[in-house]
Amino acid sequence: MNFDFDLIVRSFPLLLVGAGVTVQITAFSVSLGLLIGMFVGIARLSNTWIIKALAAVYVDFIRGTPLLVQIFLIYFALPIIVGQRIDPFIAAITACSINSGAYVAEIFRGGIQSIDKGQMEAGRSLGMTWGQTMRHIILPQAFKRIIPPLGNEFIAMMKDSSLVSVIGFEELTRRGQLIIARTYGSFEIWLSVAFIYLIMTFTISRLVDYLERRYKIDDRH
Ligand code: ARG
Repeated sequence: MNFDFDLIVRSFPLLLVGAGVTVQITAFSVSLGLLIGMFVGIARLSNTWIIKALAAVYVDFIRGTPLLVQIFLIYFALPIIVGQRIDPFIAAITACSINSGAYVAEIFRGGIQSIDKGQMEAGRSLGMTWGQTMRHIILPQAFKRIIPPLGNEFIAMMKDSSLVSVIGFEELTRRGQLIIARTYGSFEIWLSVAFIYLIMTFTISRLVDYLERRYKIDDRH
C-alpha cells in the first residue's frame, strides 16, 4: 500500500473547515441541551404529576430511539407536517440539542438527588421558596458533582454529531467522505479525521479537568 502523506497535507485545510462546523454544532447543541436538560431534570423531580410525567416521556422517547432516526424525523418527516424544508444546520442542531437534553436531564436529576434533602429543608425553613432554594443552594452544589458526567456527555455529543453527515451537512465526517469520493484516499483521510476528532475531544477533557479543579478549590474557602 502506498501511503500518500501529501494527500493528508493537501486535505487538511478542508478537513479543518469541517472540524470548525463540528465544533459549532457541538457548542450549540451542548448549550441548548444543557438548558433543556436542567429544566427537564428539575421537572422530573416535580411534585406535580403531569410535569413529572411529561418529562419522563421526553427522556424515555429520546433515549429510547436512535439519534440517527431522530435526525431523519426532523429533516425528512417534520417538513411534511410544516410544509416547508428545514435548513440542514437548523435540523442538525435541533436534533442534537433535543437528544442531548434528555441525557443531561438524567445527569441533573442524579446530581440533585445526590444532595442531602436536609439542604432543601434548611432553605425552606429559612423562608426561601422551593425555587430559590433550588437555585441558590441545591444547584450550585449539584453542579460540582455533575461536571464529570457532563464532560462525558459533551465528548459523546461531539462524536455523535458525525451522524448529521447523513443529511448532507458538511461537518468533519462528511468532509472526509467527500474528499475520499474524489481522491480514493480512504486510509489517509479516515486516519486524519480520527486524529482531528481525538484532538478536539482531548481538548474538552482538559477543559473539564480544569473546571473540576477550579470548583474544588472554591470548596476550601
Ligand atoms: N448513540 C446513541 C444514539 O444513537 C446516543 C446518541 C446521543 N449521544 C449523546 N451524547 N447525546 O441514540
